[in-house]
Amino acid sequence: MGGSPNGVTVDNAKSTNGSKSSESESNRSNAANDAAKAFIKKNNNGAVVIRNPDTVTPKKFDVQGESLDPHCDPLNPKTISFRDITSAAFLIKDGVERTPCPRSTTSDSYGMDLYLKKDFLQYTGSFKERGARYALLCLTEEQKKIGVISASLGNHAQALSYHGWKLNIPVTVVMPKAAPIMKIQKCRNYKANVIVEGKDMAEAKALAMKMSEENKLLYVNGYDHPHIMAGQGTLGLEILEQVPNPDAVIIPVGGGGLIAGIATAIKALSPKTKIIGVESAKCPSFSNAMENNAPIYTPIKNTLADGLAVPKVGYNAYVTALPLIDKMVVVKEEWIALAILRLVEEEKCVVEGAGASGLAAILAGQLPELKGKKVVVLLCGGNIDTTVFGRCLERGLAAEGRLVKFNVELTDRPGGLNELCEILGVLGVSIKDIMHERAWLKDIYTVEVKVVCETRDWTHSMELMNELKKHYQKVQFSDEPLAINDSLAVLGKK
Ligand SMILES: Cc1ncc(COP(=O)(O)O)c(C=O)c1O
Repeated sequence: MGGSPNGVTVDNAKSTNGSKSSESESNRSNAANDAAKAFIKKNNNGAVVIRNPDTVTPKKFDVQGESLDPHCDPLNPKTISFRDITSAAFLIKDGVERTPCPRSTTSDSYGMDLYLKKDFLQYTGSFKERGARYALLCLTEEQKKIGVISASLGNHAQALSYHGWKLNIPVTVVMPKAAPIMKIQKCRNYKANVIVEGKDMAEAKALAMKMSEENKLLYVNGYDHPHIMAGQGTLGLEILEQVPNPDAVIIPVGGGGLIAGIATAIKALSPKTKIIGVESAKCPSFSNAMENNAPIYTPIKNTLADGLAVPKVGYNAYVTALPLIDKMVVVKEEWIALAILRLVEEEKCVVEGAGASGLAAILAGQLPELKGKKVVVLLCGGNIDTTVFGRCLERGLAAEGRLVKFNVELTDRPGGLNELCEILGVLGVSIKDIMHERAWLKDIYTVEVKVVCETRDWTHSMELMNELKKHYQKVQFSDEPLAINDSLAVLGKK
C-alpha cells in the first residue's frame, strides 16, 4: 500500500487502503472508516465509545510529513508483551514506590466496591516514573553517557529529569510554553537541561527531535516508546496483587502508553477484567483514533486534564491498547472538576485533572454497568498548579450546585441590603462575593445586587431561590448545574 497519507493496512483485505490520494490529515480514508466499527454514543455528559470486537487492529500506518522516531515508526508499530512488563517490574522495583490501593472511603456511596490506586504518591507526583526509569535503565552504556531528550508538558519531563539525575544520565527536556510553571521549575530542580520552547507539544517535539539528531541524544517518547509502555504496565501487576480479580480498571488516556501497558498486564493475568479508558472532551484523541481505526490529529482545547492533552495518540500505544480496551469514556470538564473536589473532600487526596478523570467518568454516570462491581480507579497524577487547583475546587462546587450566583433587585433605601443578608443568614447561606449596581437600572430607587454564595447542596440552593422569590419580584438564579441530576443518580439520591 505505499504512499497514502494516513492510510492504514489491516489484516482483512476489505479494510486495506490502497489509494494513492493525498487527503489531508483530518480526512478519514474510506478504508479506515470501513475498519472503524467502534460504537459511539454521545450524551449530555460526553460520550462513550465501545470497541467492536470485529475491529481489526492495523498492522501499519502510512503517514507523511512526520518527524520519524525510529522507536515509534507508524510503518512498523510495535506491541509490548507481558514479559516486557515483568522485566520492567524487576528492574525498577528499587527505584519507584509501590503505591497503596485502598478501598475508597466513599465506596458505598458510589454503589460499588471501589479501590483507588494512588500512584500520584510517586516522588515526582505521577506514574510516569515507572516508564522513565525503565527506559533509562535499558540504555546502552554509551547512550547513558551521551544522554536522552524528550518533549513533554510536565509529568514525563519531571520523571525523566528526576531518574536521569538519580542514575547519572544527562537529560534534556523541551517543554512547550504552555507547560505549568510548577512542572518546569521541578525539572530544573532535578538538574535537567530544560528548554522552554514552542507554543504546543508539536512544536516542542519538533525541536527535541532536531536536537536528538544533532546531538545523538536518544528521543524518549513519553507514551509511545515501548520501554515507556512496559514501565507503565507495572502498575497493572501491582493493581492485581493489591485487588485480585477486579471487574474493571479505569485508566486515564493521553497518548495511550499508560492504558497500553496496564491493559497488557491485566488482560494477560485476568482476561475478564474490563479495561476502561477515560479522556476529557477537550482532547478525545484516542476515541477519535478508535473511530478512525488509526491515530488521527485531534485539535486540543484548554483542559483541566493537561496531562491528557495529546493531539495524536502513539502508533505503538494504539496497536497495543486497541484490542485490549473494552470501553472509552469521554467526560466533560465539569465532571473532572467535581472529581478533584470529591477526592480532596472525601479521600484527602490532591489529584490533578488527568489523575481525577477516572472518578469523573463514574460521577458522570457513564459507567452504570459497574454498579455492585469491584472497580479500581487509577489516580495517576497529583501535579496541579495551586491557582488551577483553587479554580477547580470552585468549578466543582458550582458543578454540584454548592456555589451559586443570583441577581436580585431590591429597594435602595437604608436597610435594603441588610434585609437580604438576613434572609441568607437565616438560611445558613454564606456570601462569597457581593456587588451593588445602580447606574443601569430604570427605577432610581432600586439597586441590583449580584451575589455569589455557598450553600450545602443544590436542594439548599433551591430553598434559597424560593425564599428570595417570596421577598423580591426580580430574582435571577443560576441554572441547574450539569452535575446535579446525574451525580445524585449515581449516589442513589434521586
Ligand atoms: C497524570 C497523568 N495521567 C494520565 C496520563 C496519560 O498517559 P498516556 O499519555 O500514557 O496515555 C498522563 C500523561 O502525561 C498524565 O500525566
